[in-house]
Amino acid sequence: MNIIYNEKTGIFKLDTVHTSYLIGLADEEGFIGHVYYGKTISDSDAGYLMRTGEPPYVPSRNNRDRSSFFDAFPMEYPGCNTGDFRESAIEVLDAGGHNAVELTYRDHRIFQGKPGLAGLPATFGKEEECMTLEIDGVDKVLELEVTLRYSVFADVDVIARSVSVKNLSKESIFLTKLMSVSMDMDADIAQEDYRLLTLHGSWARERHMDFREIGYGKTSVGSARGESSHQEHPFMALVSGTATQERGDVYGFHFVYSGNFLAQVEKTQFDSLRLQMGIHPKNFCWQLKPGEVFAAPEVILTYSAEGLGGMSRAYHDLYRNHLIRSPYKDKKRPILINNWEATYFDFNTEKLLDIAREAKRAGIEMLVMDDGWFGHRNDDNSSLGDWQVNEEKLQGGLKYLVDEVNRIGLKFGIWFEPEMVSPDSDLYRAHPDWAIAVPGRVPCRSRNQYVLDLTRREVLEHVYRSVSEVLHSANIEYVKWDMNRQLCDLGSLYLGRDNQGELSHRYVLAVYELQERITREFPDLLLENCSGGGARFDPGMLYFSPQIWCSDDTDAIERLTIQEGTALIYPLSTMGAHVSDCPNHTVGRNTPFSTRGNVALAGTFGYELDITKISETDRNQIPEQVALYHKYNDLVRRGDYYRIASYRSNHFFDCYGVVAKDKKEALFTFVQVLRRPNYHSRIIKLAGLDAAMRYRHEETGKRYSGDTLMNAGIPVQEMWGDFQSKLIHLTAEGE
Ligand code: GLA
Repeated sequence: MNIIYNEKTGIFKLDTVHTSYLIGLADEEGFIGHVYYGKTISDSDAGYLMRTGEPPYVPSRNNRDRSSFFDAFPMEYPGCNTGDFRESAIEVLDAGGHNAVELTYRDHRIFQGKPGLAGLPATFGKEEECMTLEIDGVDKVLELEVTLRYSVFADVDVIARSVSVKNLSKESIFLTKLMSVSMDMDADIAQEDYRLLTLHGSWARERHMDFREIGYGKTSVGSARGESSHQEHPFMALVSGTATQERGDVYGFHFVYSGNFLAQVEKTQFDSLRLQMGIHPKNFCWQLKPGEVFAAPEVILTYSAEGLGGMSRAYHDLYRNHLIRSPYKDKKRPILINNWEATYFDFNTEKLLDIAREAKRAGIEMLVMDDGWFGHRNDDNSSLGDWQVNEEKLQGGLKYLVDEVNRIGLKFGIWFEPEMVSPDSDLYRAHPDWAIAVPGRVPCRSRNQYVLDLTRREVLEHVYRSVSEVLHSANIEYVKWDMNRQLCDLGSLYLGRDNQGELSHRYVLAVYELQERITREFPDLLLENCSGGGARFDPGMLYFSPQIWCSDDTDAIERLTIQEGTALIYPLSTMGAHVSDCPNHTVGRNTPFSTRGNVALAGTFGYELDITKISETDRNQIPEQVALYHKYNDLVRRGDYYRIASYRSNHFFDCYGVVAKDKKEALFTFVQVLRRPNYHSRIIKLAGLDAAMRYRHEETGKRYSGDTLMNAGIPVQEMWGDFQSKLIHLTAEGE
């Protein structure tokens, strides 16, 4: 890790373990250009990559045709409406109603450590673990200072980028667009053939991988739903045509934010690419008064020469070591049983205690009471906002229930949806103006609920108190924080005319503030975020909770694709994954209980079924699965992830694994989705092992060298029937 400034060449050079990132100051006017990002290079004198010496591209010497410079120069942070017709990174509405911005270099600082971003989640590290470069650019007409911030880490190949803007003028300026990252790069079609990889989905099928060609013009994904969303994901990667899991160039961009986002690539007339990521400009208009600063969330860039797998492992290491703060981040999580798919809204104290007793016998460690414990909520039409226990269901109250569960020997967890209000609730009847709505319009209901206007201090305080009081009232050790609808009818009675365009971002900041305060007040609480399954599974939320419910789809086969897309960029320790009952409640599929267990072992692991009602045969397998969790979870949580085969693309089987950092242990999961008739064994080439070590395969006792397992492969016999699976556990000899 290092950052230098070469004064002679006007080049900033940032080095991570295997990558370099170069920024250059061009022309006497001080334009800030992007020079290079990729595999490590030694020269800091690489300004030729910006092609500034090539006439007619020297703006100070070519006033007649400055536009040829502006529309081709690789801008590090492009302004707007001054000659660069590609996408801008920043746009404003100034006092005169104009949107032009043009940035030139003013100053810079290089220092150890990495400052936080006020009110926003961000990666962090000790002074000796990271270094930061801040470049101040300025628009001299607007008197607007834009600080581009770059941090590198000693132990992982990423660059964390963010941007903040300060209004140095005497008048308000409205920011109408502020991308966190813009990066121009060559993509000569004769040399590079990048595809765009994004994650798309819907409820119950989140984060499916999607590859597409990059054509001329603009290609984007985004969310204007007020959350990162089921549909598209705040992530994109450029994947070179020849890249595989373990080889080839991959550039990843991942947004540490939980609200609206835009991720876009623009292919230009000169075969360059302009990549951008940041808060979606739709519905965004932020008033920046004189002296005020606006900080945009950060984007994590990574370059991998080791294919998609290299990118995955960089993100996994970064998030495990430099983003998640929970005391649970490196701990085995209690195996939980959640009553949602077991009972839905139909439960009472006795029912929950029956589940707890049976769960205890099977080795499960925590009972989580899901939706339906408050107000008069017997279905999803009422009571959000009334966080008082329904004593008709929970006879004896919450404390009694929790004490009894504890007496049985289980921890206790609870579900909340704190950001919402049901029209049928005491809270809404008392404060109809607390819901987000456009005056004069009846807001759109979704799941028959409205969203609370958390930008109002009194609403935020009320929500905070409601959650905190419940948590103080009993020994509650886990919270599932849900959010079951998206934001529309954007209007706040609290914000003035000039500030309505701030609502979506202020809402996200308020959610962050709430979770920050709750986790500070209850430092030992295990928080799991959730949003109708996985609609707010993003790095922003990981700053507050070490795990996120991955999807409401608990079918083991559907989960293969969902978990493949999730594990592409998130550590396995963060993926909420449970064994549920069959036929599966989302797709009606029957799968073996063992396969449901094996697939859930790749995540946080738990159960979501009525343990008192499932078959004896299934129930009897739980203690074995519990034992597997205890045996393998340290490895799964801490190891390096390798994707071996993808059912998504081969339509027959899935295979992935984790290898311990010291390479002495590995666990691969093989799922035979479809049985292939009249077929020999499959030879599966593993990855990530130490070529020189000898490994013992636990199941067969056979011994193989690492290079044999990786280059020649290990045989896996066809199993009888579809949806079968097995674990391949390898330990280095002598261990
Ligand atoms: C969402 C969650 C589910 C469950 C329900 C309860 O859909 O994703 O796991 O908690 O809400 O209403």
